Amino acid sequence: MKLRSVRGTHDLYGHDINKYNRIYNIVSKHALLNNFIELQTPIFEFTDLFSKPLGDQSDVVLKEMYTFKDRNEDLLTLRPEYTTPMIRAAITNNLLEELPLKIYGLGPMFRRERPQKGRYRQFNQINFEVFGSSDFIIDLELISLANEILNSIIPSDKYTLNINSLGDYKNLKNYKESLSKYFNQNKTKLSIESKIKIDKNPIRILDSKNDDDIMVSKNAPKIYEFLSDECKIHYENIKKGLELYNIDYAENSNLVRGLDYYCSTVFEFKTKDLGSQDTLIGGGRYDGLIGSLGGPNIPGIGWAAGVERISMLMEEINVDEPRIHIAISDEKFKNHLIKIINYFRKNEIIFFWNYKYNLKKSLSKANFKNADFVVIIGENEFNNNFYTLKQLSTGNQFELDIDNIKKFLNDKF
Ligand code: HAM
Repeated sequence: MKLRSVRGTHDLYGHDINKYNRIYNIVSKHALLNNFIELQTPIFEFTDLFSKPLGDQSDVVLKEMYTFKDRNEDLLTLRPEYTTPMIRAAITNNLLEELPLKIYGLGPMFRRERPQKGRYRQFNQINFEVFGSSDFIIDLELISLANEILNSIIPSDKYTLNINSLGDYKNLKNYKESLSKYFNQNKTKLSIESKIKIDKNPIRILDSKNDDDIMVSKNAPKIYEFLSDECKIHYENIKKGLELYNIDYAENSNLVRGLDYYCSTVFEFKTKDLGSQDTLIGGGRYDGLIGSLGGPNIPGIGWAAGVERISMLMEEINVDEPRIHIAISDEKFKNHLIKIINYFRKNEIIFFWNYKYNLKKSLSKANFKNADFVVIIGENEFNNNFYTLKQLSTGNQFELDIDNIKKFLNDKF
């Protein structure tokens, strides 16, 4: 068997893992500062959790879910997104007693999409969700949090914020009907993929990347004409709030999102630097979702960021190499080596040893790696119970008792 990884998956190491760790550290810090609690859910759930809420006509449900039968015939799915598992977990663990509930989580998601730059079959998401408030202040808090997190990872000129309102579910239903009518009248001009969506999912034609579809969509009815007064006020408040926060945004009436549960505010942070997979963060309100999953009838809003896409826009991150090496001339002096290794570990001093009893090889490795000091262990050091520290930049050597090494190094760095 030829050893290979599964298409659309990737291993993480080197610069990539350094970037991921930096992203996760920044996210955890912001979560803590903004009172979000962490919630990790299992990687698989019962399939029903996803199929209806995400939309039986959505790409995710139609063709992208990794679904399999367990031995007892339960139908299970590797989570393609995090919002529905978060809601499931909040309901089954009785976390909705004190509202609003502010939660975040991060981890791998699975979608069987066609792999390309920025699109994988296993990818990582960061998710922030707030359950139980319809106040527009929450929408603003979440959008500005996303902006702050992005801004502390990549320069702000690399992305733009797009916003839209989809109205409440009644507004959206009327809008979809009007869109179906319009697209039916212009059916001949649409792509084959869009023709299929006319009756079942016409709003997805609005975010098609096909040139013919884009032309037809230009004159399509606009959602704004269908918004209730309440939704209009909510949306206007968000725009004013973003101005107060000094966050640049573009209104995009074709921004509809790919999953069915959205209503009211929707937003995306997009980049021009990644080709067609240009959405770094996507999110919005889902005021009917928690109730439809069997929870209380409370509103919700959140967003998810794609870790792979964000990390592709980051500079490489080098991790510091150990500045102290050990060089030992012979196995006979092992006990002296064990003592210093133990001392370094207890004092949290990072060191490197190449597991060779050969002074010359260890010293040349230390030179090659640009180490600052080499701890030398030879016959003299072993017999007289001290260590020689050689400074590579000067060639100076210092003979030290073990207990003085930490102070000596602290003074040098
Ligand atoms: P989504 O737009 O499907 O929304 O995914 C959010 C983000 O995950 C995307 O903007 C992208 O950065 C990343 N992403 C999605 N698919 C892939 C892929 N195949 N490869 C790499 N990255 C990908 C959601 O999942 C919603 N649950 C977001 C949300 C949370 N809405 C409310 N709360």
